[in-house]
Amino acid sequence: MKQLFFIANWKSYKTVDEAKSFLEGFKAESTDLENKEVIVCPTYTLIPVMHAYIKEHNLPLKLGVQDVSSFGEGSYTGAVNAKQAAEFVTHAVIGHSERRKYFHETDEDVLQKVKLLLENNITPILCVSDMAQMDYYLDNGAVIKENADKIIFVYEPPGAISGGGAFKKVGVEEANENASEISKKIGKKVITAYGGSVNPENAAALCGQDHIDGGLIGQASLNPETFLQIIKNS
Ligand code: PGA
Repeated sequence: MKQLFFIANWKSYKTVDEAKSFLEGFKAESTDLENKEVIVCPTYTLIPVMHAYIKEHNLPLKLGVQDVSSFGEGSYTGAVNAKQAAEFVTHAVIGHSERRKYFHETDEDVLQKVKLLLENNITPILCVSDMAQMDYYLDNGAVIKENADKIIFVYEPPGAISGGGAFKKVGVEEANENASEISKKIGKKVITAYGGSVNPENAAALCGQDHIDGGLIGQASLNPETFLQIIKNS
């Protein structure tokens, strides 16, 4: 049975009380998750509270951040660096298309962030919008290729993200084919999740594909029952 990864990307949603009630709901419903690793990525304000709750109740959940600074410690107002994030989380979503679109993040920033995360033992969840982006990562330094086994790749075409305006449905075969391209470019099979409108109806078909090892889930991860349905259905 292959290992599957379910990553909740909560984006800019939830207050502390709402996050706690998600965890309570998840706790009540979560059963043996076997070969499934579940990673929740909330906003920074929720992380210490969630970290404490998960520990106290021994929940089968890992925590991740949705972004991290492209700098280390220093005079960088407003930035949270990888060493600080490592006190609470094991994973970090990097290079999400919304960070690029609304916060002007560049491919160069993304590579720098991956480097800093790896130095601090955080697993990068590296979003790949298209294969040109993947080519940039591989053509500009060795960090991605050399550390490919320590990275969770996500093939996530921006047009497939729900709530993104121009929603385009991506078929399972197309998703699998592009996910397989990532492994091909690295030169060996790497963990690749798929992102963009994953829901309880399509999750099993997606995860059944050879090159898809789980999902990066936005809207459908906000409700614990729906999120668990995706996990259990897959
Ligand atoms: P979605 O978001 O599941 O709401 O489409 C996925 C993402 O943007 O990571």
